[in-house]
Order: sequence, then C-alpha cells, then structure tokens
Amino acid sequence: MKKRVLSGIRATGRLHLGNYLGAVKGMLELQDNTEYETFYMVADVHTITTPYNVEELRKNRREVIVDYLSAGLDPEKSVIFQQSEVPEHMELAFYLSSVVTIAKMQHLPTFKDKVKQYPQHATMALLNYPILMTADILAYKAGFVPVGIDQEPHLEAAREIARRMNQDYNTDFPQPQSFKTEGEYIPALTGKGKMSKSVEGSYINLTDDLETIRKKIRAVPTADTSGGEKSEGLRTLFIFLKLFSPESSGEFEKKFESGSLQFVELKDHITEAIFKELEPIQTDRKRLETDPAFVDKIIKNGNEKAREVAKKTVKEVREKMGLA
Ligand code: TYM
Repeated sequence: MKKRVLSGIRATGRLHLGNYLGAVKGMLELQDNTEYETFYMVADVHTITTPYNVEELRKNRREVIVDYLSAGLDPEKSVIFQQSEVPEHMELAFYLSSVVTIAKMQHLPTFKDKVKQYPQHATMALLNYPILMTADILAYKAGFVPVGIDQEPHLEAAREIARRMNQDYNTDFPQPQSFKTEGEYIPALTGKGKMSKSVEGSYINLTDDLETIRKKIRAVPTADTSGGEKSEGLRTLFIFLKLFSPESSGEFEKKFESGSLQFVELKDHITEAIFKELEPIQTDRKRLETDPAFVDKIIKNGNEKAREVAKKTVKEVREKMGLA
C-alpha cells in the first residue's frame, strides 16, 4: 500500500513565501514521488478558530486552492479538497477529543500564542484546533505531513492522540511525522520573528510582482557596513539567497566578508531570483482565474475522493469505540 500524506493551509489569504517554502514545496515533492498518495486541503474550518470575516473566508479558501494549483499541485496526482466539505473530519475530531485532556491542550505554545494575540477569543474551537488537525491527518491514516517547523507541537499532539487511540480502542493509526523542506523556517522581512500573514511588512505573497518584491526586499533592514557580524535582516537576506540562488551564495558571502558588499546589489539579485521562481506560478494563476468552472470541478472531485476515504476511517472508529 502507498504511504499516505496529508497537509493543509488555513484560508487566511493568499499564500506567502513562508507557506510556499515551508509547506507547498514539500507537498510538491511528495506528490511527485509515486510511493506516496497525497491529500492536500484548504483548512477552512481551522480558519474560524480565530476572528474572521465571512465573505473573506469564502473568497480566501478558493484562493488557497488556486494558489495550490498554480504552484504545481496536480489533481491527477493529488486529491485537492476543502476541509469543510468532508464533515467526517469534524466528527472524528469529537471522538478523538475523548482521549485528550484540557490541560494538555492549554499548554500548547501555539494555543498560548493565539490567546495572547486574541485575548477576547480564547474559544473552545481554538482549544480544539490541534484535535481537528489530528483528525485531518488520521482520517486518511497519513504518516507524513509536509509543514513548516512551527507546526511541530501540533504533530507531537497528533502522535500522542494516535497512540492513545491505538491503545484504548485498538485502532491502527500511524504516528504522523512532519516532512520538512530546506525552507522549514522562513524569517520575516522585518528581521524579527517568522514570516507571517498576521505581521504587516513581514511577507512576500506568491502573487507579488517584480516591483512589489523589489520594494519589500529593499526595505529589509541591513547594517550600515559590510563585514563583521550579520544583522538579523542581513541573515534573512542570505537565507533567501541560499534558497533562491544557491549558486551565487558563495560569491556574496565572500564579498560580505571582505567588506565590499553593496547591499542594494545583493537585494536586487535576490529580488530577481525570487521573481524568476514566482513568474511561472503567476502566469498559471492568471490562466486559472479565467476558468473558474475548471477549478470548481477539481474541488468537487477532490471533495468526493477525500470523503470516501475519511468515511471509511470514521466508520471503523465508530465500531471500535462502541458507537456502531
Ligand atoms: P498555516 O495556515 O498557519 O500555515 C500553512 C503552512 O505554512 C507553513 N509556514 C511556514 N513555514 C516556514 N516558514 C514560515 N515563516 C511559515 N509560515 C507558515 C506552516 O508551517 C504550515 O505548514 N495548522 C496548519 C493548517 C492545518 C494542517 C492540517 C496542516 C490544518 N490541518 C493538517 C497539516 C495537516 C496551519 O496553521 O497552517
């Protein structure tokens, strides 16, 4: 049997370089390896765990799928679907929640961060976030999950839930592992923390044009002089250089060490390299935007295929738990 893979991205807006390098690149790699059966969704139900706008959610969940397709996710190779259209995820999440303590969920760093960000919205849905994510994965008995490093606490929780279910109810869930890429942690353009949609000025979108990217990269704070210790912003630039133009990484490092590096030259080089990778994705996106029926059909087919698999798992769990 093929090894199963599942991943998802919340519908909070268009994808940025952190999502692309940390998650989508790993999704692509596993999709193109015939040893794996890949399930990729837009996590629209996870989006309601923090304050959101209804119309924006409706729009954004489609944008994520269009971003997936333009980045190269292929409906011939992967099941591409919408989480909310497979209600078995939510049903399974409730069953799984019976083996999880409240204390355990409250201690997760991801929960604490979100409560800090939205102190008025420490809801049950937010507390349940990792359980729903576990259900997403276990509904397909997926053993591999392409995600960035920030999702590791959730995967740790998923492994524990899988273990408990197997022990208590004799299920056969795998212990899901993250599948990481070279870009597992993409820093913010501001030079502080990680690239994130919720921090203005920290990210580059997959849809940004050359001039927008140039403006954003030029704004990355750098030290006044070349040589010596690298500032946070400069370290960020060198990370981009390594990811988008590895062949010129050595040359720029040398220039930096010798004190002759012109920051604007480095920045413009990185800008061109990023755009070179994004341009074909943007061209594909423009084409897809003209054919909404095609996208609708992919989502509908994906939903059906995903649901078939998830239904089977839920049926099994219901039987093992004495509910059927
Ligand atoms: P989300 O929407 O926050 O992020 C989507 C993916 O992008 C990765 N990512 C990054 N990787 C590297 N550097 C960054 N700066 C960066 N920012 C974001 C995230 O690690 C993630 O892989 N919980 C998930 C959504 C989800 C899911 C799932 C994932 C729901 N169910 C089941 C896998 C399996 C999330 O918050 O994604």
